[in-house]
Amino acid sequence: MISLKNISKSFHIQSGRLEVLKNIQLAISKGEWVSIVGPSGSGKSTLLHIASGLLHPDSGDVCFNDTNIYQLTERQRSNWRRNHIGFVFQDFKLLPYYSVLDNVILPLYYDHPKHELRKKAKKLLHMMGIDESLFSRLPESLSGGEKQRVAIARALIANPDVLFCDEPTGNLDHENRNHIVQLFCQLHIQGKTMVVVTHDMEVAVHANHIYRLVNGMLARAEVRI
Ligand SMILES: Nc1ncnc2c1ncn2[C@@H]1O[C@H](COP(=O)(O)OP(=O)(O)OP(=O)(O)O)[C@@H](O)[C@H]1O
Ligand SMILES: [Mg+2]
Repeated sequence: MISLKNISKSFHIQSGRLEVLKNIQLAISKGEWVSIVGPSGSGKSTLLHIASGLLHPDSGDVCFNDTNIYQLTERQRSNWRRNHIGFVFQDFKLLPYYSVLDNVILPLYYDHPKHELRKKAKKLLHMMGIDESLFSRLPESLSGGEKQRVAIARALIANPDVLFCDEPTGNLDHENRNHIVQLFCQLHIQGKTMVVVTHDMEVAVHANHIYRLVNGMLARAEVRI
């Protein structure tokens, strides 16, 4: 369903060039859950952004079924993302001037009847364990864990084919983390394709495949709980 072929990426930094990804190959089948682990700064977020159409690689291709996503125009790619991709950002990226509920419905705001959307968003927020009293609040007044769960609800509103999650449990306590893991397992059973970057082996271990990113290279990792 998604394949990354010969992906390389480096960044210009003050002291020269920082080579982050070196000739990465990765194939993800429909319905698979893939976890990516690796040290801080190893390029996990960079890889997820490239795989989901958010960041151009320096070289290589990202194909979604038969579509080479970096050969699309910006507008086509953004439509493709809206139709197929849900993304939970490491830093949430909730819009500060919109309520919790509006943040969740925003990805579909212009395309769907508002009443239906609100109903769906409320259901997702309930699933995430977000209390109704928070629905009208602005993101700045939420805790890190609450923001994280709102971000997951937003990523699911369009029922995406692929859910990309960058450290989706990084700010959660044990109970909420287990709740999200259960939810991810349910999504996986229902056939959702998922790519999850995590430091937490107890999250990673539920995947079909675990990869470790080290020194710009991706390798299959042993499953250890
Ligand atoms: N836009 C940028 N310009 C320069 N350097 C960058 C840029 N984005 C990322 N980097 C660098 O690339 C490397 C990989 O960053 P990335 O955010 O992908 O790591 P990560 O594995 O997600 O780390 P973490 O686990 O801490 O989230 C880091 O050294 C980072 O400083
Ligand atoms: Mg990261």
